[in-house]
Amino acid sequence: MLDDASVLETLRDLAEEFSQFMLHYKFGLAEVETKVKILAEELVHKGRDNPIEYVSPRLKTLASISAKAARIGCAMTVEGVRASIYDIAGIRIVCSFVSDVYTVADMLTRQSDVRLLQTKDYIAVPKPNGYRSLHLIVEIPVFLSDRVVAVPVEVQLRTVAMDFWASLEHKIYYKYDPDIPAALREELVAAAGDAARLDERMERLHREIHGPH
Ligand code: GTP
Ligand code: MG
Repeated sequence: MLDDASVLETLRDLAEEFSQFMLHYKFGLAEVETKVKILAEELVHKGRDNPIEYVSPRLKTLASISAKAARIGCAMTVEGVRASIYDIAGIRIVCSFVSDVYTVADMLTRQSDVRLLQTKDYIAVPKPNGYRSLHLIVEIPVFLSDRVVAVPVEVQLRTVAMDFWASLEHKIYYKYDPDIPAALREELVAAAGDAARLDERMERLHREIHGPH
């Protein structure tokens, strides 16, 4: 049997271990965010249109990590979470045009310190509900005072139209209410089609005015 003092000590150690662990993800996220900002600023400096409309980084909360660990059946330990959850650090990059999504993804993943672990192209093959985005898991080295840790970061790239659809669909449906009526579900799929057509149209207009890059 552990006495109160040892329980407290174990809890304190665990909290310290997790807060150090989370710090690594915060640093990894900052590294990727800086890379994206550098790309955007350099392209503007070169006189190119900025392909990036906005960037939004987020760290998963401990509560959300533990909910996901329970959902996927991984142990709620630093080792368990590190091995199974790759979206603790996440960054959303919202681009102007579909072609920009792939250009930015290429520029990022071609960098020598970026290791591409996974690609899910929901633009080429949208989800059945209509969701479109390009998802990457990249691994980035973070230089600490005494060692280097490799940190995975989830990168979601999408256009403004895809982001508009995904934000509202998330509010209406995603994860909250799987029992949404079929008619509403179909309308959401149709709305995603409208967003995709808008993307095509804007890209075509852009090409007609500026020519292909
Ligand atoms: P999670 O366990 O939720 O992270 O999903 P996953 O491991 O199956 O990965 P996936 O690439 O499918 O989704 C990762 C993230 O993309 C989600 O956490 C959402 O932010 C976003 N996403 C995926 N599918 C949808 C969707 O249908 N609608 C919306 N709005 N967002 C989605
Ligand atoms: Mg996720």
